[in-house]
This record gives sequence, C-alpha cells and structure tokens, in this order.
Amino acid sequence: MAISMTKQKIDTFPAVTKDQFRAGMARFAGAVNVITTDGSAGRAGFTATAVCSVCDTPPTLLVCVNNTSSVGQSFRENGRLCVNTLGPRHEDLAMLFGGKTPTEERFAAADWSVGVTGAPMLVDALVAFDCDVVDTKVVGSHSILLGVIRQISMSEDDKASIYAARQFHQIEINTCL
Ligand SMILES: Cc1cc2nc3c(=O)[nH]c(=O)nc-3n(C[C@H](O)[C@H](O)[C@H](O)COP(=O)(O)O)c2cc1C
Repeated sequence: MAISMTKQKIDTFPAVTKDQFRAGMARFAGAVNVITTDGSAGRAGFTATAVCSVCDTPPTLLVCVNNTSSVGQSFRENGRLCVNTLGPRHEDLAMLFGGKTPTEERFAAADWSVGVTGAPMLVDALVAFDCDVVDTKVVGSHSILLGVIRQISMSEDDKASIYAARQFHQIEINTCL
C-alpha cells in the first residue's frame, strides 16, 4: 500500500530536470567542509557541502559522496571520516580538495592531527567532527555515509564560510560555547 501510494505521488508531479535541480541547489546555501579519511584504503579527502546533522542521540551526521569520485571507495573501505568545517581563510584548501589535485598535494596544504578514529583532523578547522561510518546507502550517483561522532574539536574563529550561487561567502558566527 505504502509503496503504491509513493509511486502514485511521484507520477502525479511533473519531473524535475537535472538542470532545474542544480539551479535550485545553487541557491541552497551551505557550510563548506573538507571530509577526510584514513585506514586500510589509504588517506583521502574531498570538499563537500552535502553534510547534515541527523540526531544528537547518538550524535550522528551524514555526508553525501559521489560514487564516481576518486575518493568514494576509500571512505566506504576505511569506515571512518572527519568533517572539517572551513572558514574564509580556507578557500584555497576548499578548491584543492574539490578538484583533480593529487591526494598528497591536498594534504600538504594544511596542518593535520589524528582523531580518535584515526581520521585526519584539520588543526584550525572552525569545527571538526571525527566519526565512525555506521551505515551507507547508495542513492543514484551518490552514497550517503552515516557517521556517529566520536570526537569534536572547535577553534575560536568567529567567521564561517558559506557556499551559495557557486561562490564563497563569509558570515560572522557567535561563539557562544
Ligand atoms: C564547494 C564544493 C562543494 C562540493 N560538495 C560536494 C559534495 O557535497 N559531495 C561530493 O561528492 N562532492 C562535492 N564536491 C566535489 C568534490 O569535492 C570533488 O568531486 C572531489 O574532490 C573528488 O574529486 P576527485 O575525483 O578528483 O577526487 C564539491 C566541490 C566543491 C568545490
């Protein structure tokens, strides 16, 4: 019953094209993060805005990674990830981790510590969430990685970087903790 209702709902509405989806998402402002991992599949990292809080008990977030990127397999195999949230001074780093740059060149551009899971943590990240990947779901071209947070590290920075309309913006944030 539930399945046929869902199908009926989908059929009722006109299809949203890929271009419409992309144009809409370009207006969907989001924090900029470098997602890192290490382990048996080696060190890897990429820039992502597709990161979302899921729940606080257990403390959980999700990250969406493109299955065709060079890094997707490393994340699935290592089973750990760190979400490193960036500030305005990290825009070059965001571009390095968002393109076709070799892995070692990406990591050489910043200072890293190692989180409790073994994932690289950006030393001066606005905030870094070190996670065990507890579940993965493939949806179309991407995998949703569900991470349970084992460690959080925060800097005293008061500027965050936001990506919208295909460019970086900066906002002031209150460090009320
Ligand atoms: C601002 C920005 C946001 C991005 N967000 C995502 C994202 O949420 N998920 C994703 O899979 N790729 C995202 N990308 C693209 C990846 O960072 C890029 O494909 C990744 O570096 C893999 O490239 P590679 O195949 O050279 O390793 C984003 C890139 C930029 C510049």
